[in-house]
Amino acid sequence: MDRRAFIARLGLAAVYSQLPPILSSCSSSGDLGSNPSRIAQALRIPVTISGTGTLSALNGTAALWPGITSSAILTNNTFLGPTIAITKGETLNVRFNNLLSEDSNIHWHGLSTPAIMDGHPKYPVKPGGSFDYSFPILDRAGTYWYHAHPDRATARQAYMGLAGAIIVHDPEEQALSLPSGKFDVPLIIQDKRLTSSGQLIYSPLKEDFLSGYLGDTPFVNGTPNAFLDVEKTLYRFRLINASNARLYRIGFSDSRTMYLIGTDGGLLDKPVTLTTFYLSPGERAEILVDFSADMTSSSVKLQSLTFPFPSSHNSAEYPQGMTMDLIDFRIAKDNTIHPAIPSSLVAFTPLPVASAVQTRKFVLTMDHSRTYGMHLIDGKVFEMDRVDYRIPINDIEIWEIENQGESIHGMHIHGTQFQVLERLYGDWQIQPTDKSWKDTVFIGANETVRIILQFTAYKGTYLFHCHNLEHEDDGMMVNIEVV
Ligand code: C2O
Ligand code: CU
Ligand code: CU
Repeated sequence: MDRRAFIARLGLAAVYSQLPPILSSCSSSGDLGSNPSRIAQALRIPVTISGTGTLSALNGTAALWPGITSSAILTNNTFLGPTIAITKGETLNVRFNNLLSEDSNIHWHGLSTPAIMDGHPKYPVKPGGSFDYSFPILDRAGTYWYHAHPDRATARQAYMGLAGAIIVHDPEEQALSLPSGKFDVPLIIQDKRLTSSGQLIYSPLKEDFLSGYLGDTPFVNGTPNAFLDVEKTLYRFRLINASNARLYRIGFSDSRTMYLIGTDGGLLDKPVTLTTFYLSPGERAEILVDFSADMTSSSVKLQSLTFPFPSSHNSAEYPQGMTMDLIDFRIAKDNTIHPAIPSSLVAFTPLPVASAVQTRKFVLTMDHSRTYGMHLIDGKVFEMDRVDYRIPINDIEIWEIENQGESIHGMHIHGTQFQVLERLYGDWQIQPTDKSWKDTVFIGANETVRIILQFTAYKGTYLFHCHNLEHEDDGMMVNIEVV
């Protein structure tokens, strides 16, 4: 994005010039705060399980810092669940046990599943009940994730801990010899609000449904104030923005180069060299980061860097664009193996625009006067059993998603991956994270984003919704029936 154009267009010059002092008072997330117990702690690496197993959700307590526990939803007894690692072509067989006292279910974000396996809120798993999710993995190697998706409680349950990473491998990806094992690390990024005693709070007010529920304390893999001891070699990090509403501008404290190798639907055709990129809720990015030239005992932080944001739709207390320290990489050890950055990755075939059967238009609007349904897709608020759009299987369509306002959205489609064609009328150009196959796309203020897609796997009812989870729970979601 051209920041000057962005500021000029929104008349934000005055606001922006005031941002740095405001932001610096907010950038204390990485320090100890007023509570000396909030010390730096080793990044938790979720255990990895295969595609055959159990996920059990229950209300429990999570130890956030030593001596500080908070109520949370535990998934397999941990705050954020295990990482599921599976290979394309295998069948995922996961029994979900809902030990919560409310409806829940699991959605396999980014994966193509039969409609009844997709975690649509019309298929809740009742308290005390269980459901066997079973489907073949059709998707490309990449970073996906799972999270709760029950009616009007997705935001709270995902925030409280019902989420985890999914890693899909395939032979093409394996042949690239990218960093693996302990050099391949999922980083599930969330922001939270905490009481002074360190309790997680989720209590959205009307303004939080407008902006989304933003916090000031970043968590990575359920770990606040996280550090990771790394060796002097190349790492593959899989970033998952599992935050309810926060847009991150990812970068390093020393502005070092990163190599973007993958987005939502897997690997790019070749690495993109960059120093910063945006990641909106629901999106993933895989990066290679090289620590081999770092000094032992030095450290470098992965951060969210500041960016301008329309004040009319920002949170005063937890602003979008505040600086955050996400994780502190401490260079702990030598390593003589220095893998090269591959010059090419996996071939990408664009869907042919000329084959599109039709262009479908979606308009995103707001109605502040309501208490539910403030965010609308084509004037509609979610209704469980209403079919909003019917799309013939295998038809190639272009979708033109027009955001008529200054609220930002990250639009997500279940049941297929798509490709981003164009960004129009707003202040954004095509972003590195728009490349290749996507399931979630950020849409800026007054912007129109054109995507191309084709449902090929299954017929049935899927969802199209905003992945700002408060917007989703507010009804910014429609049913798509693939026929
Ligand atoms: Cu990740 Cu319908 O959501
Ligand atoms: Cu999804
Ligand atoms: Cu939204």
